[in-house]
Amino acid sequence: MKNKIDFTQIDIAGEAPIAEPQRQYYFIAKAKEYVESQAAELGRPLTFCVTTFGCQMNARDSEKLAGILELIGYTEETEEDKADFVIYNTCTVRENANTRVYGRLGQLNRIKQQKKHMMIALCGCMMQEPEVVEKLKKSYRFVDLIFGTHNIFKFAELIVTRFQSERMVIDIWKDTDKIVEDLPSERKYTFKSGVNIMFGCNNFCSYCIVPYVRGRERSRSPRDIVREIESLVADGVVEVMLLGQNVNSYGKNLDEPLTFAELLREIEKIEGLERIRFMTSHPKDLSGELIEVMAESKKICPHLHLPIQSGSSRILQKMNRRYTKEHYLELVDKIRRAVPDISLTTDIIVGFPGETEEDFEETMDVVRKVRFDSAFTFIYSKRTGTPAAVMDEQVPADVIKTRFDRLLKEVQAISSEVCSVHEGTVQRVLVEGINDHDSSLVTGRMGNNLLVHFPGGKELVGRLVDVYLSEAKGFYYMGHLAENYQS
Ligand code: SAH
Ligand code: SF4
Ligand code: F3S
Repeated sequence: MKNKIDFTQIDIAGEAPIAEPQRQYYFIAKAKEYVESQAAELGRPLTFCVTTFGCQMNARDSEKLAGILELIGYTEETEEDKADFVIYNTCTVRENANTRVYGRLGQLNRIKQQKKHMMIALCGCMMQEPEVVEKLKKSYRFVDLIFGTHNIFKFAELIVTRFQSERMVIDIWKDTDKIVEDLPSERKYTFKSGVNIMFGCNNFCSYCIVPYVRGRERSRSPRDIVREIESLVADGVVEVMLLGQNVNSYGKNLDEPLTFAELLREIEKIEGLERIRFMTSHPKDLSGELIEVMAESKKICPHLHLPIQSGSSRILQKMNRRYTKEHYLELVDKIRRAVPDISLTTDIIVGFPGETEEDFEETMDVVRKVRFDSAFTFIYSKRTGTPAAVMDEQVPADVIKTRFDRLLKEVQAISSEVCSVHEGTVQRVLVEGINDHDSSLVTGRMGNNLLVHFPGGKELVGRLVDVYLSEAKGFYYMGHLAENYQS
């Protein structure tokens, strides 16, 4: 995608175009001049580092940041302490995400003391909180550039503003109804990619800060989504992950409304695309139509991430989740009837205000009944500005910790049993890379999202192959290529 810009066509001496994305291409060309002159001064090419906190949506945004940095002349990505341009794409879903950013900024400051030309930028969800920006302005003056989630497309323009102004540049938008298409991006993997299908969230679960920092729900047009996936496929991608905070409400605000299930049917038709994944599904909007499409599809992976948050209907109501324990269990039955080998994963919060021992036991009960393939468990984190933050009966930390440990133990024991059931079968896997610990092995991912390590070389990376799962290791498998398998 990044190669389609012809810099000779851009007149950087003239006025910046108004229309996007042309305006950003103009600023990319302009920033390139600054970066090239800096590189000439230092006598070496400049490098960058994009550090991502948070969810897959941030990971996808980071690929766009990297794409722009490469285009403006930061030639390669390197480690944080060596890079000339460091950007943190932040998350604020739980308090500890913020704490980590402040800690790491302290270290960056020390590095910058030795390297004056170094640029430090911050963006993402945490920057949408006014208290954070105030704190940065006061105590972190060495930061060069701060922007938020709604104007990430302006990255190149903001870099130019910073080069021209020689002081901290801050640009945060409260919300937006704009979606800028066709910006460059630098993908982390050649064979798989995230694809945003919508931005923002309208659900306002009472504990969650995301609707405040990501704004209102906006769906991309199906035409733009299909076009992007087609061009990714032409570029070697075989697996896409469709991204949104609540993909099941996709399309409601389009001029010509379309359901998520209908969008999936369109994407299924794309030739050369082998696998489709999506995240995240909200139980309240998961339709019968979607279950039908999943059952019929040849490409949608048999994996559903369906966050339950709590097993207590009373707590679910206080969370504003708009489903009950019974509704959730019915949904699970329905999905398993339609797609028997489906892998189910979830998110659970422990210690929501007012959670009693009985409420917590309801959560444990759901965990035992559903037997999730895996569950992400979180300790409730109070987010200022959300309704739950001012609810009475905040649960004491030691009570939460004990419950959390009990839950984790249960979840892990079940998960290792559930995940082992495929031992002795042959599964299709997408090879993602050379194994981190043993270079004679490669690591592949099955449709159900489990990993398998098996002997192989880099020629397999990006390919879909059949692998015999010889040994279950709890949360992953060891195996070998099925072609070599003799029973
Ligand atoms: N849109 C997705 C979740 C996005 S946030 C959904 O609705 O399922 C990812 C997970 O972080 C949530 O599922 C929730 O379990 C957790 N989370 C969100 N806010 C939290 C908070 N204040 N404290 C602890 N965990 C939280
Ligand atoms: Fe947060 Fe709820 Fe929206 Fe998910 S659906 S992002 S938990 S408000
Ligand atoms: Fe975090 Fe923002 Fe994602 S708050 S979880 S990075 S939407």
